[in-house]
This record gives sequence, C-alpha cells and structure tokens, in this order.
Amino acid sequence: MSRAPWIIDFGAFHGQDARFYLEKGFLVLSVEANPSAAAKAFELNQAYAKAGRFRLLNIAIDTAPGEIDFFVHDHGDWSSAEKNTRFTAENSKVIKVSATPASEIFRIYGIPYYVKIDIEGRDIEVIRAICSLPEKPLHVSYELGASTVIASEMLHKAGYTEFSLSPQGNHGKLVAPNPPLEGDFVEFRFTGYHSGPFGREVPDGWYGREELLEKIAAIDHSKGLGRWWDVHARLREPEHDSYVHFSRSPFVEEKSMPCELVLEQDQENRGVAGGGKNPASEQRIADKHQQLNIPHLAAAVHDVAKDWKAAKYYDDAEASIDSQWNRFIWPSINCCSFDYVVDLACGHGRNTAKLAEISKKVVAIDVNSENVEYCTERFRSRENVIVRQTDGTTLAGVPDEVVSLVYCFDAMVHFDSDVVREYIKEIRRVLRVGGHAFLHHSAMDKNPVGSFRNNPGWRNYMSPSLMAHWANKSGLSVANQVMLDWRGDGVVLDCLTFLKRWK
Ligand SMILES: C[S@@+](CC[C@H](N)C(=O)[O-])C[C@H]1O[C@@H](n2cnc3c(N)ncnc32)[C@H](O)[C@@H]1O
Repeated sequence: MSRAPWIIDFGAFHGQDARFYLEKGFLVLSVEANPSAAAKAFELNQAYAKAGRFRLLNIAIDTAPGEIDFFVHDHGDWSSAEKNTRFTAENSKVIKVSATPASEIFRIYGIPYYVKIDIEGRDIEVIRAICSLPEKPLHVSYELGASTVIASEMLHKAGYTEFSLSPQGNHGKLVAPNPPLEGDFVEFRFTGYHSGPFGREVPDGWYGREELLEKIAAIDHSKGLGRWWDVHARLREPEHDSYVHFSRSPFVEEKSMPCELVLEQDQENRGVAGGGKNPASEQRIADKHQQLNIPHLAAAVHDVAKDWKAAKYYDDAEASIDSQWNRFIWPSINCCSFDYVVDLACGHGRNTAKLAEISKKVVAIDVNSENVEYCTERFRSRENVIVRQTDGTTLAGVPDEVVSLVYCFDAMVHFDSDVVREYIKEIRRVLRVGGHAFLHHSAMDKNPVGSFRNNPGWRNYMSPSLMAHWANKSGLSVANQVMLDWRGDGVVLDCLTFLKRWK
C-alpha cells in the first residue's frame, strides 16, 4: 500500500474522473470548491472512501488562504472562482467558500504520480505551484484555455519536456489499451464530464512543446466538439519504476486538512443539523442562568475558573504563542473565514492578539472579571476587538448564526466535561452555516471519577469521541481531530477538534 501510485484530482466536479482513476487501481485525493458538487463526488466514490482509497477536500484553490467568492453556475461544471461572461444574475449565484494555495495541498499530502487540473480559470495557479516543487509529479494535465501557452512554457522550464493534446469533446469513442499501460484495464465509457486517459495511455502520444503549439494553432474552433481539449505534460520518464519512485501517499500518513469530507460527517450529521432557527439568544442565556442554579454546573465552572485569575501562567504563555501558532494552530485554521471570530476563554489575550491581526471582528470572552478587565485595557485601541464576560457556559452577547470561527486554545483542556457540553450547544447556536470551531480540549479519558488536579497538566476528564458525539448531537460535523503529544514521548493529553456547521 505504501508504494501505491496516487493522483490529485483538482476540480473533481461530481467525481467521475476520480471514479475512473480509482477503478484503475490508483488512490485519489480530489479537490472541489463547490460544496454540493463535492458532496456528490463523495457519494459517488463512497465505497472507495470507506476502503481508505479516496479522500476529498471541499476547498477552492487561490493564491492565499482565506475565504473567497465562488460563482455557482446552473451549468454545474462551469462553476468557478473566476466570473466570466457566461455568468448572469439569472444563471448563477455567489457563495463564500474556503480557499487555500495549491502549494499547501502538496505540502500536507505530498507529491502524487499524476495531477489532473480542471478548475475553470485557475489551472495556472496549480501549475505555478507544481513548477516550484523540488520533487514533481510525473504527469500533469490541464484544460486548454487562455493561459495554455504560458502554462506550457512554465512546465517546460520546470522539466516537463513532453506534451500531448487530448480531446475532451469526443473521447466517448476512445478504447483503453489492453493490456493497460497505466494501472489496471477497465472498460470505461468517457463522457463530456471526463478528462479521459492519462499518462502512458494518452491517445495522441507524446511530442515536444513546439509540436504541441502547432497542434493547438491548428484546432478548428468552428466545430462544436473542438472546444474542449486537455494538455498533458510529463517529465522525462525515470529509468526505474515511476510508481515506486513516487511513493509518498496521503493515504499512508495521518495527514489531513480541516476541509476534508469524512465518512462520519455526512448524511447523519447533515440530517441532525436540520435547518430551523435556534431559540432567541436572550432566552437561551436566561435559560442558562437558570441552569447555573444547578449546583454541580456552577461548581464545575467555579472550580476550574478560580485557578486562572492572576496566574504567572500568562507571562510564560505569552512567550510561546508564536511557536504554537506557527506549528499547529495556523495550519489547522488557515482555511477558515475570519469575518467574525470568538476567542473563548481568552485569559490575557495572547490568542486574541494573533486573531485580531487577521480578523474583521474578534469577541474575546472569559469567565473571570480580572481577565476581562485585563483584555479590555490591552485591546482598548483595537477597534475590531470586543471583550465580554461569560457566566462560564454561554457565549453571552454573541447573536445567533453570525460567527465564522469559534476558537478556544489552552483553556477547554481544563473545563469540566459538562461545561464543554454546554459550550458545544452554544457554538452551534452562534455559528453561521459554513462556520468552524477550533477546540483544543482534553483527551484525558483516565481517572473518570477523580479530581482533575490529580491529572497531568490539570487536564479534565474528556475524550475525542465524547467531543465527536456531542458535536454530532448538536448538529455540528467533525471535520478533523488531531491528537497532541506535547512532549513527543507518546503520551497524548490533548486533542485539537475542528468542527464545521454544514447547514
Ligand atoms: C489556561 S488559561 C488560557 C487562556 C488563553 N486561552 C491562553 O491561551 O492564554 C484558561 C482560561 O480559561 C478561562 N476559563 C476557565 N473556565 C472558563 C469557563 N467556564 N468559561 C470561559 N472561560 C473560562 C480562565 O479564566 C482562563 O482565562
């Protein structure tokens, strides 16, 4: 398995290309920006996902991480981050989607054998990323379009010396070679939604760049079917078996991005999310105060909160935020929208300060009035930061369905599990559709009846599966969970859970 060849399929649409590659025996990582197309692609290849052979990232490719406008066209496979003359108010709508540079996907998942690119107007961004990779995929294909000549020049300079032009409009007639030249033989009927054969099976053979440009110039654009072509490029074949050479695969190592669709997340969770508005926040907060009359919940809040008033912790922690942010916080959250962020349990505001640099608005919340006062002073001159006090279980004062990211680092690890449960309900209340929660919590599932003070790092009783269970019950999907082994000694105390509200 570790030597299996694999493919990145940029622009998966409904997953038809991925299906062809999977049937040929390749592993596939698909990337699709349009959430509804991504869901269809996942459904089509679900059996392969279950078998660990198919993964899918619901994310757009852009030059920088963040959130971008994405134009969904009624003619689904024309949907694009680039709005062109095909788009009118009648035939399209604009949605917000998370975006990442293609280089980030290669960095996280490694280098595949073949990269298929069909992302309507942004193919050049992926090609640019490929050209700067120290180790490159053997095969690349992209759609013929405005940037074809420049793309072929970039690829040529980067070592792709052989090219091929492949028709997309009439490849239904193509018969795959048997015995196969790539992977297994499959009797496959291509439609206009398939990129078709790749690698050693390209129908037109391989030639130099000059010949490619001549062939492109000779295309008769008056014929309807002549409109769609793919350009294939390949590095000079290595002497040894190329599949073995390109051995790193996203399916072997536990790597993933928060935008990945996972099996657990889909149908059941989306069903639970159910639509319908939550009760008004004021009422909920009133209910919560009622709830805090439940002695054990109030006691659970107080028992943890009292340790974090003027602790020396804050000065030490301030010094380590940059390295923690760079090592594992930013890579986990960089595809989120930073429109409206809640920093839950802000302490003296070291996370708030980082978030304030990149967010339109940050609401910093803490249970202790000492911390609220400290942060109010610290962020007095920052117009995009508001500081609020909570009763210890609510996101007090944050309206329903407005937040793009709820962030909680180095605090929930100490919370009583009942308090975590309450916050999850609140997170669901405040998150808008498509919003995320980044929660650093305890994975300490030992000592279930003892005091958290007897646990390493005062971690409270909690577990990744409890988090997933409660999130699911509240209508949130687990996009990713990463275990943290702080000291590198194999002892896992914490978990970073990344939740998404799908609907
Ligand atoms: C270890 S400090 C971390 C502060 C900050 N997140 C950081 O990384 O520097 C824990 C924080 O959790 C806050 N806290 C404890 N219980 C809380 C609760 N139930 N609700 C909100 N904040 C709470 C404390 O006041 C304190 O600010």
